[in-house]
Amino acid sequence: MYLPWLKKYNLLTFDKIDSTNSEAIRLVKAGVRGDHVIWASSQSVGRGTHGRRWTSEYGNLYLSLLLDRNIITETLPQLSFVTALALRSTIAQIAGKEKQKLIGLKWPNDVLYDGKKIGGILLESIKVKAQNYLVIGVGVNILNCPTNLDRPVTSLLAEGIVVKKYGQELNIFMHHFDKFFDKWQNKGFGAIRKEWLSGAEYLHKTVCINDGNNNITGIFKTISKDGTIVIKLASGEKINISSGEVANKST
Ligand code: BTN
Repeated sequence: MYLPWLKKYNLLTFDKIDSTNSEAIRLVKAGVRGDHVIWASSQSVGRGTHGRRWTSEYGNLYLSLLLDRNIITETLPQLSFVTALALRSTIAQIAGKEKQKLIGLKWPNDVLYDGKKIGGILLESIKVKAQNYLVIGVGVNILNCPTNLDRPVTSLLAEGIVVKKYGQELNIFMHHFDKFFDKWQNKGFGAIRKEWLSGAEYLHKTVCINDGNNNITGIFKTISKDGTIVIKLASGEKINISSGEVANKST
């Protein structure tokens, strides 16, 4: 198998670890330099967004990318969209290209399959001596579905999709991540944003967003140049929200 991404990243593998994101942060704090992929077969304290636990039994994909590239702070959230596109392509390659239409991208960091959550992204950044390091945590349900989420979840297995060879999904993901990262660097966020919007869940529909303080209801108009979601309120006013949980108003 040809694995060109291995020339760019140091690969660290674990049978079991607390959290691949936590390991990436420990590496940064210990002064380790260079881009890394931290891949674990299971996690004892897998972390999700909003302080949730990410159930991490054997059989799913758990990885963190540690990027030592001093990406400027304002553009860090854009990497969530880059990663979501790589995840969509990964799942489509495994499931079969004709299934791509079933894969939805839910702002800001979820990947859905037939409306059910199948993967998530946890972006964390850490600054050491004025240098920004980015940690992109990726979880994909392959054999198991987490049971602690209050929304529909699924796995590739539950959808009748089989990953034929262990580790294949990591290689496929890294291939696509590299491709979309290059696109982001060479063509800018505009190209990524356009492609992401083509697979966006709830676009032009009424959604309810909890931004941590309030529930905001309105029409999901677009994603702005800085990655915030643009919502049109009933008053006609358009507002930008930078983080929160999106639900389709009908759910
Ligand atoms: C979400 O809540 O949707 C984000 C889930 C991110 C889970 C992944 S699994 C690998 C990496 N390590 C962690 O502890 N979390 C991320």
